[in-house]
Amino acid sequence: MIIIIIAVIITLIIIGLVVFVYHETNWIEVNHYVVPMGDVEIKKPIEIVHISDLHMSPWSLPSTFRKTADFINSLQPNYIVMTGDFVTHFKELIPGCAKAISWLKPKVSMLGVLGNHDYWIDAGYICRSLEEVGVELLLNRCSPSKNGSNLTFLGVDDPYTGHDDLKSTSREIPGSHMSVLLSHSPDIIEDAADLGINLVLVGHTHGGQVRLPLLGAIYIPSKHGKRFDKGWFNIKNTKMYVNRGLGGIYPSIRFLCRKEIAIHKLVSGEGKPYLEEKKLIKL
Ligand SMILES: [Fe+2]
Repeated sequence: MIIIIIAVIITLIIIGLVVFVYHETNWIEVNHYVVPMGDVEIKKPIEIVHISDLHMSPWSLPSTFRKTADFINSLQPNYIVMTGDFVTHFKELIPGCAKAISWLKPKVSMLGVLGNHDYWIDAGYICRSLEEVGVELLLNRCSPSKNGSNLTFLGVDDPYTGHDDLKSTSREIPGSHMSVLLSHSPDIIEDAADLGINLVLVGHTHGGQVRLPLLGAIYIPSKHGKRFDKGWFNIKNTKMYVNRGLGGIYPSIRFLCRKEIAIHKLVSGEGKPYLEEKKLIKL
């Protein structure tokens, strides 16, 4: 009798865990942040949708991105930025990935940088495919400011595989402009802070993808270990957001670490970024 009771309890725990992981893996957390950018004049708030680590694969096909793209478009953001790892392993998925990205329609522009997986597959092919659908890739370069704005986006090529060159890229930032740096890995943060970059948007960590109660992420691929695992950080006068991403490496499951779309509303003023609204959407 005791054995049967124990077996039933174990079965229920396993079923509960499977259901929980299913929900964690198939819902996206949408986080709206207000980000004070200091004394730079911002007449009208600038909205940036930040997505990362799409990791398109046979387990996360480009066609499944349609609903996510429609949701992002409904936000009518000024900019959509993507911080690398578009595909995981398969070169054959690159055209489908580019097609899925083409569904995104920001009001001003769509910007991106590459990640380590993009390098391990075929960086040149991914660049050409993304540029054909209107993504402005910032691989060690600045984007010319749009509509007379005092906002300069710059991006570095993937730091994890050693292709970044922030120092020379940052020389192109006009003196009076606020700067938003795109990078795949958070390992760029100290250099960005030394150079006075205002805001850094990164991905790469997946927030750990699977997190344990009390212990947090099991592993974060960063020279800083688990220090910059997810969310907001402040080094000197530089703010950094580490996005948990929309995909994952195999097995592509999530536990206590949902997929994420972050919306950053840049405003004038001092203070820390704060969460204005949070909701969940089903994939
Ligand atoms: Fe990744």
